[in-house]
Amino acid sequence: MTQVPRNLQTIEAHMLELQSLHPGASGDFTGLLNDITFAAKIISREVTKAGLVDILGATGEENVQGEAVQKLDDYANKVFLNCLGKRGQVCIMGSEETAEPVYLPVSQGSGRYIVVFDPLDGSSNIDANVSVGTIFGIWRRRSDRAHVCAEDLLQPGRDLVASGYIVYGSSTMFVYTAGKGVHGFTLDPSIGEFLLSHENIATPFSGHLYSVNEAYQNDWSAEVREVVGILKGGRPGRPGGMSGRYIGSLVADFHRNLLYGGTYLYPPTTDKPAGKLRLMCEAAPLAFIAEHAGGYASDGAGPILDIVPDGLHMRVPLYIGSREDVLWIEKKLSAAGDKL
Ligand code: AHG
Ligand code: MN
Ligand code: MN
Repeated sequence: MTQVPRNLQTIEAHMLELQSLHPGASGDFTGLLNDITFAAKIISREVTKAGLVDILGATGEENVQGEAVQKLDDYANKVFLNCLGKRGQVCIMGSEETAEPVYLPVSQGSGRYIVVFDPLDGSSNIDANVSVGTIFGIWRRRSDRAHVCAEDLLQPGRDLVASGYIVYGSSTMFVYTAGKGVHGFTLDPSIGEFLLSHENIATPFSGHLYSVNEAYQNDWSAEVREVVGILKGGRPGRPGGMSGRYIGSLVADFHRNLLYGGTYLYPPTTDKPAGKLRLMCEAAPLAFIAEHAGGYASDGAGPILDIVPDGLHMRVPLYIGSREDVLWIEKKLSAAGDKL
């Protein structure tokens, strides 16, 4: 007989508990997280039935990154823009799919948050029913002017207030941190609620998985080739090489490595000297999660979280996952002065 559930906690209840730790809180931040949760449920519903409705395939357009926009990219982007822009807590929204940030009109005291997101990550996988995701980061407005400016948007990951991701996989999971532990919630579609399933996620200090697109190895620097070779073959004190796992959806690769222990790498290549991944909507929010779970993220020279973006769509090389492994990679690459 099915057991009567005990101690179930919805994501909303969890967020309210967090809010209660800040007695003066206005509720704006909790409201914003709730709006993101709502957007995630809508996108999850659409992803789940993607093969049945006319939402697979490309729109025929290219985004600011020069990548083909999938219909679900476009849909997820609009859902986020609509769900987050209505209730006055947000002053700037930045999306991977939108060339310019969206500045919302604010009056002093309202619109205190900046949200940057990758509405659908791994979208080239959608048509094959492979896991995709959403990534978001939330910063606090720095200026107290009624009209926000670029300085409010271009903040390093270190100053994030919260970040998270949603992975639309065999189940839909919402993982977030607001600086007090990393927590994971699984969507129960029958009641439409995200329920706490992974409290206080701690990633293994070192891992046995490496995730990289090895098709680019001829375009990597000699140092990156050497690092990946050592990860595969085993390094001194760590005999036995790692196993390769690469989905091609950053969220899904990161999520698996977070739980099992491992490192995701997207190094610079000759045609992408800064790598492919975007600092503000991909690398920094995941780096914030990684560090709060005991892991680490580097661009090969230093912490991802310390990089001040020079624009919404700035790209960075990314090495992220188990702390010991990423620190080892960073040490190897920075010693070699690796920058293509
Ligand atoms: P997006 O779908 O948001 O453009 O991101 C795709 C990213 C990331 O999810 C993935 O890890 C990486 O691109 C895969 O790139 P390669 O095909 O070059 O390996
Ligand atoms: Mn992405
Ligand atoms: Mn995307």
